[in-house]
This record gives sequence, C-alpha cells and structure tokens, in this order.
Amino acid sequence: MDRRLVDIRHPDCKTKIYPKKLPKASVIIIFCNEAPSGLLRTVHSVVNRSPPEYLHEVVLVDDNSDRPELQEPLEKNISTSWPDGIVKLVRSPKRLGLIRAKILGAKESTGEVLVFLDAHCEANDYWLEPILARIQEKPNVVLCPAVDLIDDKNMEYSRNGGISVGGFTWSLHFTWRSVPEKEKKIRKSDADPVRSPTMAGGLLAVGRDFFFHIGAYDPGMFTWGGENLELSFRTWMCGGELEFLPCSRVGHIFRAAHPYKFDHSDSHGYNSKRLAEVWMDEYKRLFYNHRSDLRNSDAGNFTDRIELRKKLNCKSFKWYLDNVFPEQFIIDENSQAYGMVRLFSVRNPESNLCLDTLSRNHKVDPYIGVFPCSGGLSHNQMFALSQINELRMEEVCADVVGERGARVKLMDCHELRGNQLWNYNRDTKQLKHASGWCLDVGGMKMNDNIKLNDCSAAGSQKWEFEHVLKFI
Ligand SMILES: *[C@@H]1O[C@H](CO)[C@@H](O)[C@H](O)[C@H]1NC(C)=O
Ligand SMILES: *[C@@H]1O[C@H](CO)[C@@H](O)[C@H](O)[C@H]1NC(C)=O
Repeated sequence: MDRRLVDIRHPDCKTKIYPKKLPKASVIIIFCNEAPSGLLRTVHSVVNRSPPEYLHEVVLVDDNSDRPELQEPLEKNISTSWPDGIVKLVRSPKRLGLIRAKILGAKESTGEVLVFLDAHCEANDYWLEPILARIQEKPNVVLCPAVDLIDDKNMEYSRNGGISVGGFTWSLHFTWRSVPEKEKKIRKSDADPVRSPTMAGGLLAVGRDFFFHIGAYDPGMFTWGGENLELSFRTWMCGGELEFLPCSRVGHIFRAAHPYKFDHSDSHGYNSKRLAEVWMDEYKRLFYNHRSDLRNSDAGNFTDRIELRKKLNCKSFKWYLDNVFPEQFIIDENSQAYGMVRLFSVRNPESNLCLDTLSRNHKVDPYIGVFPCSGGLSHNQMFALSQINELRMEEVCADVVGERGARVKLMDCHELRGNQLWNYNRDTKQLKHASGWCLDVGGMKMNDNIKLNDCSAAGSQKWEFEHVLKFI
C-alpha cells in the first residue's frame, strides 16, 4: 500500500519551483466493485504524496458496489487508516454509471480544485503541485497528468515514454496523436505543459468553479464513453483550454476487463450521439457517416445542453477544428475525391466491387481488398484521395512496398509521401503508386486482396471515386 516509487520525472521538472500558496484539492475517486487493494493503494498514494496543506480531502464515491469487502470492512479500514477524516466515503443508493457518479463526487467536494482519478491508480512524487500551480495561474484550464503504466500482473511501475496529445476519430473514439509542430515550437522543454485537442478522460483536474460554470458533465449520458470528448470540445469551445502536464505523473493499471456491468448496450454510441447533436454543428454528418445505425436512434432529451451552449455563448465546432485541431482530417473538405472507390467496368459502369477494409483490424491484419459496394453506408469503404495524394481512411493510409504482387495495407499516415503516394489518372482511371506499379485486383472477386501489378489497360485497374471535389 505504501510502497515507494521511482521519481521518473523529466529532469527539468525537478528544478521547477512552485508558489507556496496554492489552492487546495479535492481528489475524487469513483469505484464500482473495484478490487479493494487497488482502490486503497490509490488512496494511500494520494494521501502520502500530496503535501497536507494542499490536500483538502479525498472523496470516494461508491457507485453502488455489491462486493462485500467494499461494504462495512471498507468503512472500518478507512476510519482506522485515516482517523483524521481526510478520506470521505459517499455511497450512491443506485447505480449511476461513471459519468453521473463523477457529477455526484464533484457536488460532494468542497476543495477549490477537483482532481478526478480512476480507482486503480498510484500518484507519484510531486504529482499535485504542478496541477495546483497551473490552475492558480490559469483558472480556465482543464489539466491531465501524464499517465504511467502499472502492469496488472506484477504491479511494476514504468514510465510511459514520449509525449503525445489527444485526437479523435469521426466515430468519436479517443486517439493519441503526435505533438503538432506548432506546439513543439512554443515549448521550451519537454517539462512544459502541452495543449491538447482532447483528453482520454479518466484522470483530470479542473477548478471547481470553472467545472460547474461550463456545465460539469452531461447528466443525460449513460455509464461510460463519449464524456471525455464532450468535455474536451466544450472546454475549448466555451472559453477554456485543455493541457497535458508532463511533470505531474500518475500510474494507472491498464486492465483487461471492467469489473461492472453496463446499464445500456451501447452507452458509447448513445452518449456520442448526444455530443454530436449538441456540439458538432454540421460536422455531425461525419459522425453519422460512421454510425449510420444511430441516425434515427433515440438519445434522450438534450434541450438543456443546447441551452447551456447558448447561455455560455460558445464558439462553433468549425472554430474548434480551425483553431484547436487543424490537423484533423475532414474527408469531404480536405480531399480531392472521396467515398466509395468502385472498380469501373465499361460494360457495367455500376460494377459492384469497392475498395474495403474487409472489417479487418488494421493493427493485426492490415490488408485491404474489395467487397460489394455498400451504397455509401459502410465506413469500411470510405476512402479519400487526400490533397497530398494519399489513399487515406481517417488517420491510416494505403501503404505498400514497390514490387509486383505486393499487397496493400493500411498504416498510420506519415505524410512523407514515399510508399503512401498514389497518383490518380482520370483518363485511364488507374491509381499509380509512387513505385510506378498500379493498384490491381487480380481475380475481381469479393474478398480479393488488392495488389500492385504492371500498369495495363486491364479492367482490374480501373477505379472511380464516388464523390469528386477537385483533382489537383
Ligand atoms: C485495509 O485494506 C488493505 C487492503 O486489503 C489491507 O492491506 C490493510 O491492512 C487494511 N487496513 C486496515 C487498517 O484494516
Ligand atoms: C426536454 O427537456 C426540457 C428541459 O428540461 C423540457 O422543457 C422539455 O419539455 C423536454 N422535452 C420533452 C420532449 O420531454
């Protein structure tokens, strides 16, 4: 419970001096059927590694756990371990889900700064001072500490290398992105805060007043999922900023499964639809391109959230994309052509085979092939010819080594052209790779992989894009 950790901060963090007078923090930890050892280790680390003058309280919110060790034994354990009452326990009589439990925890807290942690974390040395100093300096900031890795098998603590920022896919999942060049130029040291378009969501700190001013969390959201992007967009659009703080380090156990049940079959989809409807303006079309199943689904009543946006006079989603996240790829604005890429046949212009990911997980089996065209309904067929001539799908690009018969796979876009460069010829309809070979589907059958081949007039090399914006 009280083990020592190595101080793995960047050397520049160790020489930073923070003001003596800082606001005090309430650390809020939500749990539901969490393993008691992991939960208590989180609390011990917070109490041990926060200077007492800056720790107002630790608020544990029990989201209706039924595990017996978390009932009376937990209360006894807390009152024995911390007889001074610094650790408080709030129990919800019914299951709220993580998002609403966080709202409850914030309402029950009285510190000037709210710090949300997952229930399986370990705060490292000097984790709190950088957070409090930054919020004192910038009251409208939402901060994320750097998250290190704790191995769920042997509890080994290791540094999470490299600094990244947060992004998102149009299906509204969080992604990691490399730090943009413009941000690298502003920062003098790897110890400086870095602005991020989005956050992962579990670990964050925010001034209590600012948190409630911008509308806390959406109480209409179920269980889990989407709330991190909702808070990210809202923060930026409504006058705040979101930053990652490399000098504040917290370990996190990455585990294989959730110990609790979900009260909604697709809470991520439901919550994301609320987010798209309230915050994304006309760009919600890109979400529905990926989640056409949700176009007509119910997402509850979100009138209050639309009112909130009006009341706070928040900026548009276009402003957010232009100013906060200009790196985000917008398929129907930043491409030459996009949509289904159909195999063209003279005899049958509406041929029915299209480029397709074949629903493969591009991290495991990244090869693309052809499949009957979906009529624009499947995001597996949403490709773009980008302005720098990539054959691109969100953040992954068609990539291939230049040799005859090489199969084409999806890899992270590197924007360096090379093996990701494709030239489209509108007359011959060929997609010609940088190496001089052409994109070809051998057997012209469903599920066939596509390969590079000698360029020829063969029908297996003629491709047409569904929507053309402007060929360069
Ligand atoms: C509290 O629980 C932890 C984890 O189960 C245990 O290691 C510790 O001894 C308990 N402390 C008290 C005072 O009961
Ligand atoms: C939605 O919520 C608003 C505000 O709480 C309320 O005025 C309105 O009647 C609700 N609409 C429906 C259809 O329930």
